[in-house]
Amino acid sequence: MRRAIIRGTGHYLPERVVENSWFEDKLDTSDEWIRTRTGIERRHFAAEDERTSDLGIRAGRAALQDAGIPAERLDAVIVATSTPDLTFPSVATMVQAGLGMKGGFAYDLQAVCAGFVYALANADAMIRAGLADRVLVIGAETFSRIMDWTDRGTCVLFGDGAGAVLLEATEAEGSSADRGILATDLNSDGQYRDLLYVDGGVASTGTAGHLRMQGNLVFRHAVEKLAETAHRALDKAGLAPEQVDWLVPHQANLRIIEATARRMHLPMEKVVLTVADHGNTSAASIPLALSVANAEGRFSPGQVLVAEAIGGGLAWGSVVLRW
Ligand code: UT7
Repeated sequence: MRRAIIRGTGHYLPERVVENSWFEDKLDTSDEWIRTRTGIERRHFAAEDERTSDLGIRAGRAALQDAGIPAERLDAVIVATSTPDLTFPSVATMVQAGLGMKGGFAYDLQAVCAGFVYALANADAMIRAGLADRVLVIGAETFSRIMDWTDRGTCVLFGDGAGAVLLEATEAEGSSADRGILATDLNSDGQYRDLLYVDGGVASTGTAGHLRMQGNLVFRHAVEKLAETAHRALDKAGLAPEQVDWLVPHQANLRIIEATARRMHLPMEKVVLTVADHGNTSAASIPLALSVANAEGRFSPGQVLVAEAIGGGLAWGSVVLRW
């Protein structure tokens, strides 16, 4: 059977780094509160003239370079984002042009913080179905553009950035010992739309709007649903939680990550953490974490990775893959 394996990873973070202390004279908050309640220490914010597509192009280029594969050999580009440059065309087509890729097809996918997991599942299905051989999957966000800077409950949490992985088709046996994506698990429940949303849009206010979140309620759903989806994906892959070498979680809150690891009986040494330096970059957080850890040489061939995320919708899901 065909499997989608990761050939390369890349990422890009905007130059501007903002420490927690930056918020202290603007809001009733403190570095101490942000650190202890979220694990976040700093985040990157895009420059005024820097757009989501710019971040995506840089991350995509880095992944192609890491894989040693030129853009002309790509069949498809998927960009997971909730902060597109424009209503249309897609960020993905802008990335396609920016990479100098003339053929193939490109599209955006919007599942907020779960976007990258959804995009990986999408790319995996296309590769296994024979629709594409090489797919560049990018998570790129500029959440700084939809922050309400007077809302201390949200604006201290998010950051900007982009991460990318290059998936390539390979022939495999069809067992859990194969390399590549072994299983995916996607879920959503629209009845929870008011827990996390943006209060603007094309067909409602005609504005981009600002992010609104009932943080403590989202927190509770996250703790329950993330371990659940990870276990379901592992089941589908025919693997037990003890066989997991790395958890690569959505980086929203260190306390959520710790609770999920506990529920999966995984020690924190097996968890990739970037939340302290990046904050919550929505759909970019998992590919950023993957790329940073890969650049540090932390993954070995044959190791089992689980990625999981939850966000607005609510939408959540997970991917199990063998490196
Ligand atoms: O990526 C998409 C998914 N999103 C998430 O997973 C986020 C999930 N939620 C969270 O990470 C946490 O709920 C937060 C970090 C957003 C908040 O932490 P919490 O422990 O759930 O705090 P809380 O919302 O229950 O608020 C506790 C207190 C409140 O004050 P009172 O009402 O107890 O007086 C808040 O007003 O903390 C206050 N607070 C702050 N204080 C200082 C909220 N934000 C801040 C702040 N600085 N930045």
